[in-house]
Amino acid sequence: MENEGLSIVDKRTKTTYDIPLHKGTVRAMDLRQIKTGPEDFGLMTYDPAFVNTASCHSAITFIDGDKGILRYRGYPIEQLAEKCTYLEVAYLVVHGELPTVSQLKEWVSKITHHTMLHESTKNFLGGFRHDAHPMGMFISTVAALSTIYPDARNVRDPGVRQLQIYRLIGKVPTIAAYTYRHGFGYPYIYPDNDLSYAENFMNMLWRMAEPKYRANTALARALDILFILHADHEQNCSANVMRSVGSSQADPFVATAAAAAALSGPLHGGANEEVLKMLDEIGSKDRIPAYIERVKAGRVKLMGFGHRVYKNYDPRARIIRRAAGQVFEVTGRNPKLDIALELERIALEDEYFVKRRLYPNVDFYSGIIYQAMGFTPHMFTVLFAIPRTAGWLAQWQEMLQDPEQKIARPRQIYTGYAQRDFVPIEKRGA
Ligand code: CMC
Repeated sequence: MENEGLSIVDKRTKTTYDIPLHKGTVRAMDLRQIKTGPEDFGLMTYDPAFVNTASCHSAITFIDGDKGILRYRGYPIEQLAEKCTYLEVAYLVVHGELPTVSQLKEWVSKITHHTMLHESTKNFLGGFRHDAHPMGMFISTVAALSTIYPDARNVRDPGVRQLQIYRLIGKVPTIAAYTYRHGFGYPYIYPDNDLSYAENFMNMLWRMAEPKYRANTALARALDILFILHADHEQNCSANVMRSVGSSQADPFVATAAAAAALSGPLHGGANEEVLKMLDEIGSKDRIPAYIERVKAGRVKLMGFGHRVYKNYDPRARIIRRAAGQVFEVTGRNPKLDIALELERIALEDEYFVKRRLYPNVDFYSGIIYQAMGFTPHMFTVLFAIPRTAGWLAQWQEMLQDPEQKIARPRQIYTGYAQRDFVPIEKRGA
């Protein structure tokens, strides 16, 4: 509403300022006029970790953290997970609408025809030590694609951007599969264009001497659902990095690598690997209460619990819990599920978690499924990065097309010395 606004009284100068509100927010630049005199820089806001600061307008993903709602482009995550393929959702996230039959056909065909890696990229991967962490290999190799596609630097050209989107969504499963096989010393498997996105990924992961890989359809569908759930999550740490690096007009390969680096941390996408380590450490149900006491004493965190935005059950965790049943019908039950379920039950009844509104997040159950499928924990975050690439690219495009966006450059509150005179080294003491 036009007459919505704030009146701010600066007690220092006894001046009243009328500050407009837009969609429930104050523009930080509107505060700059609040100053004590011409020499004063003007008021800034201070918000480490962006706890209460919107950095952009976005039409991609909606989250209501109190109600536990997640929607991509307005569509509830539950409906998308039930009815779509991952590539259909990736189209929706990137382009804003669900594809028509012909749009989907073209999208799938374009992505399928960009799954192959340049042989020099394959050789680059071969140069890592046998025990290199797959996420480090993934990040470096995505960055290395920048050297293969110098045309990608022309980020202002929509056609060039579109081509890099095909390339990145097409190639991330190939890179991911090669990081996996590298650890076993197995030869890398070329993509198979007859297969769906998830099936082809499984082909590149697990095909051995058989002439044609046949994926288990239930596992391929479960993987596709996990990909859908991880496609985007609005302004999280890695999306913010994608936008920030992209705002300097760096090419999308290095920006995606930077976003993947942000994802790798244990407080973000790296949490799925940490959950498995935690479940291993707990080992059996009878040891859960003692572990919970350590969490409450602040000695460890309950990994896979808590979220900056969700103060309710993460809707993705709910869908994953259900999908786990379908996977276990094929793979057999992962015994860690029983520890996780009991851990969740005890935590959700405990005052420490209730008071802080800490619920399981997406990473709490995803690793249990991945492990049942045969992945080792150090692959889990790579499995998160594959589908999140679509989200990062959607955020990147939206940022570049937003006339209000500029190079990201926060302010600081300087707390260092005022000016001092240089001291020669011989006079600096012992
Ligand atoms: N275990 C124990 N205590 C916790 C946890 C946890 N997992 N998460 C938050 N808390 C406590 C925290 O110590 C603080 O307590 P107090 O008020 O007494 O100081 C309170 O809850 C608020 O937490 P916060 O650290 O201020 O919350 P945040 O929004 O800064 O952090 C988080 C969010 C996800 C980093 C955090 O909950 C966490 O570290 N969780 C474990 C790691 C994890 O599972 N990460 C995956 C997030 S979902 C996937 C993704 O999108 O990356």
